[in-house]
Amino acid sequence: MKAMVFHGKEQKSWQDVPDPGIQDPADAVIRVEAVTICGTDLHILKGDVPEVEPGTVLGHEAVGEVVETGSEVRGVRPGDRVLVSCITACGRCRYCRENRFGQCLGGGGWILGHLIDGTQAEYVRVPFADLSVHALPGAVRSEDAVLLADIFPTAYEVGVLSGRVRPGDTVVVVGAGPIGLATIATARLFTPGRIIATDLVASRLDAARAVGADVTVDAGEAPEQLVEDLTDGLGADVVVEAVGVPQSFEACTRMVRPGGHVANVGVHGRSAELHLESLWSRDLTITTGLVDTCSTPLLLDMMAAGRLPAAPALVTHRFPHSRMEEAYDVFSAAADTGALKVVLGPPTHDEVAPAG
Ligand SMILES: NC(=O)c1ccc[n+]([C@@H]2O[C@H](COP(=O)([O-])OP(=O)(O)OC[C@H]3O[C@@H](n4cnc5c(N)ncnc54)[C@H](O)[C@@H]3O)[C@@H](O)[C@H]2O)c1
Ligand SMILES: [Zn+2]
Ligand SMILES: [Zn+2]
Repeated sequence: MKAMVFHGKEQKSWQDVPDPGIQDPADAVIRVEAVTICGTDLHILKGDVPEVEPGTVLGHEAVGEVVETGSEVRGVRPGDRVLVSCITACGRCRYCRENRFGQCLGGGGWILGHLIDGTQAEYVRVPFADLSVHALPGAVRSEDAVLLADIFPTAYEVGVLSGRVRPGDTVVVVGAGPIGLATIATARLFTPGRIIATDLVASRLDAARAVGADVTVDAGEAPEQLVEDLTDGLGADVVVEAVGVPQSFEACTRMVRPGGHVANVGVHGRSAELHLESLWSRDLTITTGLVDTCSTPLLLDMMAAGRLPAAPALVTHRFPHSRMEEAYDVFSAAADTGALKVVLGPPTHDEVAPAG
């Protein structure tokens, strides 16, 4: 099969690799029908996630069809259409028993496209299939469902729930990539007073307004002053960091009001400065987190009920699998391409050249 293989910092290629097979009785092999690229994949290529070994197939988000299951798998069968979660879970360890699947000690956690081969491929082996894939109701299209592999549970759990968004709050979302946009959409479920989004890219600020931000501001145009002005000098109740660079984290700690919450979602490759000399007295809560995806069943129901923005709002580009490298270029140059989520899959009928 073909897959997107990581070859070290800034190096990757869509190339032949061996087909995956069942290695453990709890595994399933999935034929990938929709797969996407995450900001985290860009961090891996930047060298921010050093534990990823050259030779690893990238990707941790997919929808596909089960083609083979190990003898212990009970929940899905060949032929089922499933969502492959970015987090796998052994279900038995201390953390899995607490629904903290991201911290799994039994061989799960964030392993796909990180510690083992991932989803940016024609086929993927998913360990612990019973707890790591979700059978999809027919009503949810693959392109919508793939948004639930990572961006919606991450935004909701690590951004909105950890940030404790409450009715009436002023919420600032720093970074309006797919994760920031999903944060805006799921923060709205709690009826905040206003949502302010900031990014460096105009098209992403447009998208932020489309999914429900009330105010948007270019990150180069004094967002901190705007937050101060809009809150009568208090600062924001909740600030969500959805970028992953020191400057944006540090800006979050300046925009939050005393007693407020900073929820860090971004993957960081460098240390950020924490100014305890000015923060120690401000009663802040700063949270970090890897997504657990324990909210995925709930979010799947909400997607099916039309309560979340789906592909029309968040997917800007579609490619056949074979154009994975081009899809990376488009996703990483969002300022020029206007890309949000890019979705890849097997070629559709009109992309297959007619015979003869
Ligand atoms: N914690 C988790 O479990 C988890 C899961 C998935 C993704 N992530 C991380 O979440 C972050 C966002 O993911 P994404 O897919 O939306 O990535 P992305 O790269 O598409 O989006 C990041 C956005 O931040 C903007 N940006 C850059 N510098 C900025 C600044 N100084 N101020 C404001 N905006 C700025 C960029 O223009 C871009 O729109 C990434 O760091 C990703 O690795 C974390
Ligand atoms: Zn991701
Ligand atoms: Zn576990």
